Amino acid sequence: MWQKMIGDTRLVLTEGDITRAGTEAIVNAANSRLAGGGGVDGAIHAAGGPEIMAECRRIGGCPTGQAVITTGGQLPAAKVIHTVGPVYRGRPDDARLLAACYTNSLELAARHHLKSVAFPSISTGAYGYPLDQAARVALTAVRDWLRDHPGLLQEVRFVLFGRAALETYQEAADQLV
Ligand code: APR
Repeated sequence: MWQKMIGDTRLVLTEGDITRAGTEAIVNAANSRLAGGGGVDGAIHAAGGPEIMAECRRIGGCPTGQAVITTGGQLPAAKVIHTVGPVYRGRPDDARLLAACYTNSLELAARHHLKSVAFPSISTGAYGYPLDQAARVALTAVRDWLRDHPGLLQEVRFVLFGRAALETYQEAADQLV
């Protein structure tokens, strides 16, 4: 585990399964139809139960870079924030859209008075974003948002899947945060 205070907010990097995170909200790496899938998305719907998908159907969809919020169903987290990462294409827009996923998710959490949020490493599975590049974009976006919005969140946590992912994020955090 790695942690550091950014103003009043604790930024934590940890290894594990995000469906078990004890934060008030967890973030899902969804697709733009909010239709479910594999990876984090599959794990969240499997652990949280059908209420989450019922709300996703009512919402209907979410553009890349944006975020929407549903119940957490049976998850320990009260809420799931669904954000849609870019499919990696090696263009400048990739980083802009990936950063937007993080800042729009944090905005939504703050608007709903949620005090703690856990993120997975968005876009780095099925969507093919190189992990080291994604780590830099994610940590820069979260760091900048927390500096600009002091006092709103108690904790922002990254729950990384596997030791290698945690180490990649830790190396980026040591340089950036
Ligand atoms: N907890 C935390 N991280 C996880 C978990 C989990 N339970 N399961 C997978 N991961 C990690 C992966 O190792 C990867 O680094 O989450 C990261 C994101 O991978 P994906 O879940 O594949 O998300 P993404 O690349 O954004 O692709 C989204 O995949 O499942 C579909 O519906 C989803 O179409 C969408 C696409």
